Amino acid sequence: MSISQIAKSLTPSATLKLNEKAAILRQKGNPVIHLGGGEPISQPSVFAINALQDLLKSGEIRYTPAGGTSQIKKAIVQYTHDYYQKEVHNNNIIATIGAKQALVLALQSIINPKDEVVFPAPYWVSYPEMVKICGGIPKSMIPANNVYHPVIADIENVVTSKTKTIIINSPNNPSGAVYTEQFIEDIIAYCEKQDIYLIMDDIYQRLIYDGKTPISSYKYVTKSIEDSKLIVINGVSKQYAMTGFRLGWAVANSKLIKVMSKFQAHQTTAPSILSDKAAVAALTNDQSCVENLRSALEIKRDALVSGLRKINGVKVFKSEGTFYCFADFSVYSKNSAELAEYLIDTAQVITVPGIAFGLDGFLRISFCRDIDEIEEGVHRIKNALSNKNI
Ligand SMILES: Cc1ncc(COP(=O)(O)O)c(C=O)c1O
Repeated sequence: MSISQIAKSLTPSATLKLNEKAAILRQKGNPVIHLGGGEPISQPSVFAINALQDLLKSGEIRYTPAGGTSQIKKAIVQYTHDYYQKEVHNNNIIATIGAKQALVLALQSIINPKDEVVFPAPYWVSYPEMVKICGGIPKSMIPANNVYHPVIADIENVVTSKTKTIIINSPNNPSGAVYTEQFIEDIIAYCEKQDIYLIMDDIYQRLIYDGKTPISSYKYVTKSIEDSKLIVINGVSKQYAMTGFRLGWAVANSKLIKVMSKFQAHQTTAPSILSDKAAVAALTNDQSCVENLRSALEIKRDALVSGLRKINGVKVFKSEGTFYCFADFSVYSKNSAELAEYLIDTAQVITVPGIAFGLDGFLRISFCRDIDEIEEGVHRIKNALSNKNI
């Protein structure tokens, strides 16, 4: 079959592949525990569901303008005010089909073939593939001194004259780390000085623990929104437990937003009006669903971390945010793909191999499932590993 060079270069999403594997095993009657997933199991905002039902009853399910309706843009302007302490306008906003589309549109709008895009490892599985889709070259690095908390020198070491943008994701998938405020300040100053774009992927922004508060990148931006090359990505998928709605966004200077909207107009037109209306309702009504989710996740995080810490030889970093724990299992195997397979085969527990995130020897274990499942999953992992020589 003749397919494009770009198509040949892509690797399938490791996490989506595991979802399929879990579904197949379950269909066969296997008691699988899926600790590989990337979505909360709580109900989405009741306001979102009600708004959606009203819209469905009205039957007015039509196209929306490219870039999103003025209502969703207004809701995101308000969100940016409330959670970033930054005043922006509707023309600084594009609503997209999940944060994923916002990231791809941003890359499509700024990258030329062979431009480089830099991001620290461990990184979200889709970054390298998104860069390749846009004809760019992904360049990642493992932070030299602390894999959970990069410092600016780690980034400086890989930036070249071909670097067009840097992607930073904090709270981080898969590591669960919240990058230090010093690093955020430094990366913003560095990108401004180098005059390169900085994409901040904030999709887990408010899912942080131990009394931490989100860091607004805008605090350190010295340029006006129209002169700035900062692109902030966010969405309702994780914080509002609305993964299936597919509604994300980007905030950036209005010229770039216009270009991104042009791409979107020809690709997908816009997010569906159903997602748009549901997200407006989630964003503009009572926010306690986010805090409820956050506090429930904190309890699950504690259960997972304390269970994993009882496994001989495993080095566990206590997640500061997200719903992932990224633990070092290299004492059992340096090959994380092999180890993840072993755990599926012997314990029927699904984890995601660290190699999918650019760091072998680690496993990503989610704490979004019920606490009973988490505890049973860790128990099974412990038993399975007790039979493995270290
Ligand atoms: C770091 C990161 N960014 C973006 C996304 C995509 O989010 P969405 O579901 O809004 O497309 C994910 C989803 O797993 C993610 O982990």
